[in-house]
Amino acid sequence: MSEKQPTKPDHRSRPNNEQFKTFIASGWAPRPTDLPEQAEVARWTPARRAVVSEAFPGERLVMPAGGLKVRSNDCDYVFRPHTAFSHLTGLGADREPDAVLVLEPSEEGGHDPILYFRPLAPRDSEEFFADSRYGEFWVGSRPTLESMAAELGLETRHIDQLGDALAKDAGQVALRVVAEADADVAALVEKVRAESGLGTTEAQLTAAAEADAELARMCSTMRLVKDDWEKDQMRLACEGTARAFDAVVADLPEAKKRGRGERWVEGVFGLHARHHGNGVGYDSICAAGDHANTLHWIRNTGDLRDGDLLLLDAGIEVDSLFTADVTRTLPISGRFSDVQRRIYEAVYAAQQAGIAACRPGNRFKDVHAAAIRVIAEHLHEWGLLPEGVDVEATLDTDTGQYHRRWMVHGTSHHLGMDVHDCAQALREDYMDAELRPGMVLTVEPGLYFKADDQLAPEEFRGIGVRIEDDILITEDGCENLSAMIPSRADDVEAWMARILDGGA
Ligand code: GLY
Ligand code: MN
Ligand code: MN
Repeated sequence: MSEKQPTKPDHRSRPNNEQFKTFIASGWAPRPTDLPEQAEVARWTPARRAVVSEAFPGERLVMPAGGLKVRSNDCDYVFRPHTAFSHLTGLGADREPDAVLVLEPSEEGGHDPILYFRPLAPRDSEEFFADSRYGEFWVGSRPTLESMAAELGLETRHIDQLGDALAKDAGQVALRVVAEADADVAALVEKVRAESGLGTTEAQLTAAAEADAELARMCSTMRLVKDDWEKDQMRLACEGTARAFDAVVADLPEAKKRGRGERWVEGVFGLHARHHGNGVGYDSICAAGDHANTLHWIRNTGDLRDGDLLLLDAGIEVDSLFTADVTRTLPISGRFSDVQRRIYEAVYAAQQAGIAACRPGNRFKDVHAAAIRVIAEHLHEWGLLPEGVDVEATLDTDTGQYHRRWMVHGTSHHLGMDVHDCAQALREDYMDAELRPGMVLTVEPGLYFKADDQLAPEEFRGIGVRIEDDILITEDGCENLSAMIPSRADDVEAWMARILDGGA
């Protein structure tokens, strides 16, 4: 019988003799010992952590970054930390796989933040040259405990100490974990609970799961209102997104010529996203013609043709992970047809009504109510609602809603480090809550007439329009952070002419 194959064959050959190990560990310049300056975000993270600390006094709070995810075999996806971890530590793009932030209850009250992570390994370790996932030869040098502490302004410890730290005083200190961030760390917490007799019965397990969910909810809800640093990051994301939209317009002739123009548009936007920031904040929706009527069209395999519209829903995520989320619907030829313009202007009017409702004191759901009313009015005026159904009848949430056939989605969502930010907040803190200065939300009504929609006038079929902007609530109203990207029909045509023809 032949030798049994190991479950994971290893196709790499690694020198393993002692002479080689001594050789590869020697002859390097000393590692720099100077520490980095404290990151700007470190001035803001203590206040964020204080919110969580105050909500859960005396408890040990565990916020993992999450681990690397396998793409295939020994190739991982680019790392993205869990948003709660990133928000509370200030670590953004790519940082730091397997790290865990622990808020340790302190005797004086409050919590001490401690970041557990895998620091740079010494050059005489196997990891240095032989570990393709973490080793310096493979992924570059990581921070040391000291440099990370200097950068973030908090205490740092080796990840190997996490298990003991979580188990310390088990049974006396309650533990909560953002469980969805890292299954391994969640399992570690469960083990500590079980060993201390606190996580064994059905009732205890249910209570522990609810306690964890409460922590995750708090981490999500606390991001509803952005601090000044976060607002600046949102501005940066929107500015980059505006430049990327310019670049897409400039490259439309090339996209048309090449075929699979939707992919070309995705690539041009992605190039600018990767150059300006970390990348796109979500997969770009590059939808020409009837594809615009598929709300999450991210296959982007279609051609661009003069006479069609291109719906581009795309946003740049900056290195801190804050993302824009902007939609423009562009006439590929540079000029709207009369029918396209009629539909476009209805959506534009709805968006203006939604934006006008963006002010403190109004509720989040008032924005949708204002925009959808304008959508319903146009559909009624065009004779598309069923016989006998007027605007009020269709707006009735119990017996109407016929208009939703042509705009099935909501008008707004919170925006920030996640494109659908604060998603775990309760309805009372989100939908039903009053808008407050510092909130950022999208306003993105649309009208979608599918090519096979026999209730739509023939001339409407195959036209889909959405206009989406990123709106910051201010003390007395709002500021449109993406307003530099033209959106009024005439302005869109003039913008495109300026870029494509060098004039209007
Ligand atoms: N881009 C996804 C959205 O607009 O919600
Ligand atoms: Mn959106
Ligand atoms: Mn969008």
